[in-house]
Amino acid sequence: MSSETQAALVTGASRGIGRGIALELAGSGIDVVVNYARNADAANDVVREVEKAGARGRAVQADVSVAEDRARLVDEAYAAFGRLDLLVNNAGVGPSERADLLQASEESFDRVLGINLKGPYFLTQLVAKRMIEQVDSGVVERPKIVVVSSISAYAASTNRGEYCVAKSGLAMMVKLYADRLAEHGINVYEIRPGIIATDMTGAVKEKYDKLILEDGITPIRRWGQPEDIGKAVVAVATDLLPFSTAQVIDVDGGFHLQTL
Ligand SMILES: NC(=O)c1ccc[n+]([C@@H]2O[C@H](COP(=O)([O-])OP(=O)(O)OC[C@H]3O[C@@H](n4cnc5c(N)ncnc54)[C@H](O)[C@@H]3O)[C@@H](O)[C@H]2O)c1
Repeated sequence: MSSETQAALVTGASRGIGRGIALELAGSGIDVVVNYARNADAANDVVREVEKAGARGRAVQADVSVAEDRARLVDEAYAAFGRLDLLVNNAGVGPSERADLLQASEESFDRVLGINLKGPYFLTQLVAKRMIEQVDSGVVERPKIVVVSSISAYAASTNRGEYCVAKSGLAMMVKLYADRLAEHGINVYEIRPGIIATDMTGAVKEKYDKLILEDGITPIRRWGQPEDIGKAVVAVATDLLPFSTAQVIDVDGGFHLQTL
């Protein structure tokens, strides 16, 4: 089934930033495939909110670190709405436990790299091939790929080295896919969130409250919200940056500024 309405696949969309992205896209009239890893109830709630916003939603379970799951996810996403105009690689995890660089385990490295880097790398490979087919057959025009990385792509945190390595790997992945896919009219963007209020940062809320509100670590002195990232994704999805690819979009309250 294909339609004139655009469709997006957002990974890890049952909560947090992914949910914020799904809802902003829906508010712009874009149908959304809501990928989730485990929490079907939360994913179905997001689908209901997407529908309330006037778009169509479909929840699809898949662990992005598992090859068979990725293949099924892509098949089900295309089956849902007949097209994909946008892939948002958002799913990601922090280390289960923040450990010093000199103590952190290989097991945690493999887990974090598997979900945060290998998953999006090969999911993008699968989707890019399907996007090229749909561009060639005229089903979609100028589809796009977004990668949600982090300020950890360049800011070193020695108590979660594996997370930083994965996120900096995503930065190169964006350059590679942007270069390879430009000839097919597919732009690729890296969105770098700063400190965003989600479950991921819930455990370190007090530390970040102080850094943001008292120490002024970000020139804009507030927590980022999932919809801040969602609005940046909508700008990409609605083709407001047509002559930019491999572009890094900082959504971080100015964290990346170096001031003197
Ligand atoms: N919250 C922040 O401050 C912040 C800052 C920079 C970047 N990010 C990045 O933004 C993205 C979303 O983070 P968040 O803050 O919303 O975190 P979150 O923990 O609230 O949500 C992450 C989502 O990813 C899903 N997920 C985890 N493993 C998965 C897997 N193997 N397969 C499919 N889905 C999986 C989870 O189920 C969850 O829905 C992550 O990539 C994260 O690294 C977050």
